[in-house]
Amino acid sequence: MISTPYYLIDKSKLLPNMEKIAWLREASGAKSLLALKCFASWSVFDFMSNYMDGTTSSSLYEVKLGREKFPGETHAYSVAYAPDEIDEVIASSDKIIFNTIGQLERFESQSANHVRGLRVNPGVSTSDFDLADPARPFSRLGEHDPETIAKVADKITGFMFHNNCENADFDRFDGMLGHIEQRFGFLIRKMEWISLGGGIHFTGEGYPLEKFAERLKRFAGENEVQVYLEPGEAAITKSATLEVTVLDTLHNGKNLAIVDSSIEAHMLDLLIYRQSAKVEPDAGDHEWMVCGKSCLAGDIFGEFRFEKPLAAGDRLSIQDAAGYTMVKKNWFNGVKMPAIAVKELDGSVRLARDFTYDDFTAALS
Ligand SMILES: Cc1ncc(COP(=O)(O)O)c(C=O)c1O
Repeated sequence: MISTPYYLIDKSKLLPNMEKIAWLREASGAKSLLALKCFASWSVFDFMSNYMDGTTSSSLYEVKLGREKFPGETHAYSVAYAPDEIDEVIASSDKIIFNTIGQLERFESQSANHVRGLRVNPGVSTSDFDLADPARPFSRLGEHDPETIAKVADKITGFMFHNNCENADFDRFDGMLGHIEQRFGFLIRKMEWISLGGGIHFTGEGYPLEKFAERLKRFAGENEVQVYLEPGEAAITKSATLEVTVLDTLHNGKNLAIVDSSIEAHMLDLLIYRQSAKVEPDAGDHEWMVCGKSCLAGDIFGEFRFEKPLAAGDRLSIQDAAGYTMVKKNWFNGVKMPAIAVKELDGSVRLARDFTYDDFTAALS
């Protein structure tokens, strides 16, 4: 038995997402690139690459990882590149998408023989959190003015729009795409390819995939462009858990269980967005607050229901530990870094990576 804590990536849970993505490409022609900012656990990239077309990135290191580990197309994007990164970014990518006209012009000569694109900010989004809203006031994420963009349109062959955020509502997506076409259509029609970014929950239960495929196909046909999607969360949703063990229990008005992990170190995204973790089935007569072992007072995974009172030695599976989770793990409090294990389609589990004290010391100096 693998000792906890560890992230468990389950290929049989990844598979339905992958099959929907592959189906969508067949039905719509849209290519899907995995957004590495969301999920960069490369031990399952070979598997995922059977269904997806490649990767997109947010930095030099991510673009290098995509090129090295994920067969297919490699898109480079970053909010800002430094001059000493640009040659390596270009060498590691099939396309480079600049965030601003300033960056496009600064690196114009180095990128002259490369496929270039520009991020466009349509000024609308579906985000409920200011923190994650690319269309927030004064946003630095992309160029927003059609007339300004028109002046550099001959230097690029594509645009990237990323304005969806955990959007499970097809009509909302459709409406926003209509808005984009209305405002930027005359520019889009000059391009060869358009990336519509990530944030569309099209692999979710009940999402109208046929309608989505039809809309993407129509957008591609009417504008004569190759469409790309950049799914992060949609690609890996519900495919991994964080496996932990109860180390201690106490009672202080509520039943408290301390586990050998930490939400701040191992599921930081939930803390940032003030969301509870998930435990399944979360049913039974006994309510317990599951807490992390870091010193942060609010290091709490959440309150869940169990069949029996928790006791030291019990194992728990924290759900949905793939997206924006493994990529954000850190060494706060020196808590042991969760190992990474992969459950193969035949049910066998292999340990892909373990972390030791040497990794902890190597992360600082
Ligand atoms: C440019 C871009 N593409 C793709 C994604 C992936 O989004 P998601 O994981 O919500 O699908 C993001 C997320 O922030 C992004 O900023």
